[in-house]
Amino acid sequence: MDHFLYRNGELHAEDVAIAEIAAQVGTPFYCYSSATLLRHFRLFDEALDGLPHLVCFAMKSNSNQAILKLLAGAGAGMDVVSGGEYARARAAGVPGERIVFSGVGKTAEEMRAALEGGIRQFNVESEPEMAVLSEVAVSLGTVAPITVRINPDVDARTHAKIATGKSENKFGIPISRAREVYAHAAALPGLKVIGVDVHIGSQLTELEPFETAYLKVAELTRALRADGHEITRLDLGGGLGIPYTRSNEAPPLPSDYGALIKRTVGDLGCEVEIEPGRLISGNAGIMVTRVIYVKSGEGRDFLIVDGAMNDLLRPSMYEAHHDIVPVAEPAPGAEQQPYDIVGPVCESGDTFAKQRDMPALAAGDLVAFRSAGAYGAVMASEYNTRPLIPEVLVDGDRFAVIRARPSYDEIIARDHVPDWL
Ligand code: LLP
Repeated sequence: MDHFLYRNGELHAEDVAIAEIAAQVGTPFYCYSSATLLRHFRLFDEALDGLPHLVCFAMKSNSNQAILKLLAGAGAGMDVVSGGEYARARAAGVPGERIVFSGVGKTAEEMRAALEGGIRQFNVESEPEMAVLSEVAVSLGTVAPITVRINPDVDARTHAKIATGKSENKFGIPISRAREVYAHAAALPGLKVIGVDVHIGSQLTELEPFETAYLKVAELTRALRADGHEITRLDLGGGLGIPYTRSNEAPPLPSDYGALIKRTVGDLGCEVEIEPGRLISGNAGIMVTRVIYVKSGEGRDFLIVDGAMNDLLRPSMYEAHHDIVPVAEPAPGAEQQPYDIVGPVCESGDTFAKQRDMPALAAGDLVAFRSAGAYGAVMASEYNTRPLIPEVLVDGDRFAVIRARPSYDEIIARDHVPDWL
């Protein structure tokens, strides 16, 4: 459930009319609903009720300062994957003890910044990384708490570009080598082994792959304890999928997922962390665009909108489907016609949807791309020197621009022309 609904014939975000935001901010823009973000966070938090736990928002899905502050205020921790994300989390007021650091390529500088600023744990992904982290920690006179990310060789049954739990993927340590690697970690002076980490992929629409992976984590935890390691924390990653089409998709609910966690690892007495991103932010955001032209092609009509692949990359990168709806509510039973919905960028890849049935639309009409709150703004670029589009946060009947659209002058001023030119 989200808070983008038609009211009095117009799409609203909570109590604010989208057309009103468009009039003030210009198009295209991202618009987020505070109530939806908080609701999704709380669903996870409640799903783990009864277990000691921390829900760490995967801020790679949406890292705007306002969003982080909103979620942190509700009690969320953060899952960061770079020094930049760590700095963003801290700037939003998230204490170090609520930040976990994931990622296959952490640099010594990033490790140092996190150790100095405070960190809950590093999720370590390789032996070379362990060696560097241990050295950095020793040089700072401290000890880094770690989990080791294991690769359970489980098929997440999702898009190949976002599956991470098979042995051919670059992530984690093969579970077959885990005990050996834990022994190595325990021998390093700058590390303290505290747990096990796993993340098998994103946009999972079935629980079974999670179940297989978590059962393997439980078995490994018992084996590691038998080897003498003190395993007190399990980081179970993110990945629970969302419905991208309103009509026919019903992925498992956070409550089902929570029950599965309790069933598979609940008896180990560990503190549990999860790292959901998409399910918290995805359906809490839309991208609003305006139709520039309706162009009749040979046997098809193109709806050319002012948003493009640089603003929302998912359709061209993953063939992802986003529901696209007119901001003015179509009359009941309004006739539909197929459109190819495209942006202005000079590539055929700048296509959001082919032969999508929509009510008749005209130049100047507003259309909203649903489910765009995760991996939308954060993956945007300024390709074709199209400014990064603004982000707007709605809360009840108020809204604020939480990232402004840069001017052309600001964009150009970031370049420096050397004095020999
Ligand atoms: N934890 C780790 C270690 C991850 O790598 C990810 C996502 C998450 C948590 C959060 O997964 P989520 O709950 O959001 O599914 N750009 C792609 C998605 C990439 C996901 C990468 N890792 C997309 O637009 O579909």
